[in-house]
Amino acid sequence: MPPSQKEQIAWILVFLFKVVCCRAVQVKNPIFARVGESADLLCTYSTSATQGFILEWRYAAPGTPAIQAKMLLYFDGRLYWFGSSESHMSLTQDPPVKGTATLHILNLLPSDTGLYICLITNPNDWSGSGQGLINLTVLIPPSVPVCGLNGQVYAGNDVTLTCQSSHGVPAPIYSWSREKNAAPLLPGNMVEDQHNGSLILRNLSAAFYGIYTCRASNNLSYTHCTVNVNVYNTGDTGTIAGVVMGAFIAILLLAAVLGYFLWNSVNNRARQLERRIGTF
Ligand SMILES: *[C@@H]1O[C@H](CO)[C@@H](O)[C@H](O)[C@H]1NC(C)=O
Ligand SMILES: *[C@@H]1O[C@H](CO)[C@@H](O)[C@H](O)[C@H]1NC(C)=O
Ligand SMILES: *[C@@H]1O[C@H](CO)[C@@H](O)[C@H](O)[C@H]1NC(C)=O
Ligand SMILES: *[C@@H]1O[C@H](CO)[C@@H](O)[C@H](O)[C@H]1NC(C)=O
Repeated sequence: MPPSQKEQIAWILVFLFKVVCCRAVQVKNPIFARVGESADLLCTYSTSATQGFILEWRYAAPGTPAIQAKMLLYFDGRLYWFGSSESHMSLTQDPPVKGTATLHILNLLPSDTGLYICLITNPNDWSGSGQGLINLTVLIPPSVPVCGLNGQVYAGNDVTLTCQSSHGVPAPIYSWSREKNAAPLLPGNMVEDQHNGSLILRNLSAAFYGIYTCRASNNLSYTHCTVNVNVYNTGDTGTIAGVVMGAFIAILLLAAVLGYFLWNSVNNRARQLERRIGTF
């Protein structure tokens, strides 16, 4: 075996040993916590915090690569906070020199969601250096959804009921229901999408009449909104249209008759005038 290959294998063994056996930095990941509550981002390390020891906490907002994470705190014998993090964050062990670097966040905000990096640097103990990643998700109950109805509620038509919460983490699931005593429908006549909150009602008839309730729920709680569906017969609209059309035609006829008489009388006067002029 050539020495370079031996070296590679040795490196891989050391790497595996570090990963499997005794990672220098250990974290609990992921963490889910409710908005308004507090959370501990657990981070422990196994190195002696002597000269040169540095602890850093960094934060990357969702969608930002870890490499662009911003500094939250820096400890090298003295503690430095960055940004406004100090106002609602603290260390559970301060100074963090006894193996615990856990970050405590008070009164979680939706904007605290993101990736947190616990970074230990110890130049005197390279195997005691390392980092741990923690994915924190701040859970938010669904906001009261807004219900709507798209389309015209005439028999035979298709309409879509809509339902949408503006807030909620994880994204709410939407489910529609009708009143307990509602007339039964064929399954294909109601098509629900639990992710976008739509409910398609196909081929409307009197059986669809009633109140429809949309429930928006996620892991934290649920809330609802309702839509009232009235179904009109196209027969009704036919009669209404007929009445309107009839009135319109009557007005047209009246106008035509009036116009004819007006035109006639103007014409007659003109002829009389011509005759009189002719006699001069
Ligand atoms: C963090 O968790 C969220 C939701 O569980 C996931 O979508 C995201 O990919 C995770 N990010 C990382 C860096 O693990
Ligand atoms: C919701 O999803 C259904 C299909 O599942 C689709 O027909 C409908 O257009 C979607 N509605 C919206 C508002 O995206
Ligand atoms: C629509 O419903 C009516 C009864 O209400 C039925 O006679 C008709 O066949 C249905 N049309 C379709 C396309 O399903
Ligand atoms: C939320 O609920 C879904 C399904 O009920 C489950 O799979 C998921 O793990 C839950 N997430 C959290 C953070 O509790």
